[in-house]
Amino acid sequence: MDVISIRGNGPLRGTVSAAGSKNASLLAMAASIMADGPIALGGVPDVTDVSTLALLLGYLGVETKRSADGVVRLQTVDPSQVTADVETVSRMRASFCVLGPLVARRGRAAVALPGGCRIGSRPIDLHLQGLAALGANIRFEHGTVIAEAKKLHGVEMNLSGLNGPTVTGTANVLMAATLASGETILRGAAREPEIVDLCEFLNSIGARIEGAGGSTIRIRGVEQLSGGTYQVIPDRMETGTLLLAAAITGGDVTVRGARPEHLEALLAVLDDAGVMLDTGPNWIRAAIADRPLPFQFTALPYPGVPTDLQAQCTALATLAEGRSTIADQVFPDRFAHLAELSKLGACVDRCGSTAIIDGVHRLQGDVLQASDLRAAAALVLAGLVAHDVTTIRRAHHLFRGYDRLIEKLNSLGADVVLNPNESEAERRSQRRFSASQVAA
Ligand code: EPU
Repeated sequence: MDVISIRGNGPLRGTVSAAGSKNASLLAMAASIMADGPIALGGVPDVTDVSTLALLLGYLGVETKRSADGVVRLQTVDPSQVTADVETVSRMRASFCVLGPLVARRGRAAVALPGGCRIGSRPIDLHLQGLAALGANIRFEHGTVIAEAKKLHGVEMNLSGLNGPTVTGTANVLMAATLASGETILRGAAREPEIVDLCEFLNSIGARIEGAGGSTIRIRGVEQLSGGTYQVIPDRMETGTLLLAAAITGGDVTVRGARPEHLEALLAVLDDAGVMLDTGPNWIRAAIADRPLPFQFTALPYPGVPTDLQAQCTALATLAEGRSTIADQVFPDRFAHLAELSKLGACVDRCGSTAIIDGVHRLQGDVLQASDLRAAAALVLAGLVAHDVTTIRRAHHLFRGYDRLIEKLNSLGADVVLNPNESEAERRSQRRFSASQVAA
């Protein structure tokens, strides 16, 4: 069980580079099932969720290799495989995104119900509804979804659910629609930059998709998709987390390789909190000398403040000069971090899907337990500024989605150690997810 130890070490200062987007990479990797030639994806972060999907794709006859320059190459070597390994799917939600590509390209898919971060209810009804609308025959067998179709057919549908659009549901359905006959009009589509990136990648290998970034996406089916080379967008959640690390420590950090236009809602929150911001075409600087001011927001689908930054913003609010309220409309139960933050002396309460945070002057280090990826990041942020040592158990959650976060924070002046009771050699061998692990 990985443990992180953090000694509060004052303001973070300096410049770091953003990694490529985890969630955009996962979607593009799943889409590569449909490509008739080799795919080379640049910027794919070296994180466990990527390794897990690479493993799953290996079972599905797609060979995946990461080279030293960070490019991940994917190539179908055995298109007869249509059954996704149950244990691997259970580890990660995004693995369900192989369903649409498999049924569209290979005519059949058997994919177990997905696992993933425990952040509340995560149904898949919209994925299935969308694929069924395209003509897939869908049934359940012992907890596994079987989808079959000789050929999918374009159709008009609305994919929005009670909590708004679905990101991976939109991806699953639009990927399948690229190889359907005729035109699909997807209303209520997710507008996240990762969906736009997926569509740009698919268009670069021959798909005909228009309207990505809006809530109506039009997909004209094509006969086949080719191979190609593509660079994924920078990770806006990692960028946001690093900016929040600057803000919570009263520091001054520039994140290079970032896309400010993908983070406007977070930048507005940071501005409310009194953080001085400066941006260029591919960098963002956040600096603050005093305690943050209190702030309010509701996490919403894009272009709102992302739910994937809600926990980290909550960590910042624990030290604000007054009361902040933070609601989450996307995952109304995503508040496991509150109990852990309170162990550090944070004054937090919850009313339904809203956290109420009364800022305190200081946090005191303690032993915490991470429950999911973004909660883990929030606890790390709090640890950066807490007095004495904060220990975070179940820290493996962090490595699902952050590429070299500990190294990046330490390069800015933090004092974070992975598995402090192990030798340096053991730590090094644990920390990296090497090329051999990614190779399927
Ligand atoms: N929903 C349904 N039915 C469905 C699917 C979703 O009702 O069939 C509901 C969910 O319960 C939720 C809302 O729709 O209330 C939005 O969920 P969504 O489907 O968009 O989430 P997701 O696609 O499973 C992706 C990201 C998450 C991120 C959410 C929201 C990936 C691999 N995962 O999940 O990222 O929180 O969108 O933006 O892209 C993370 O990176 O830490 C992470 C959890």
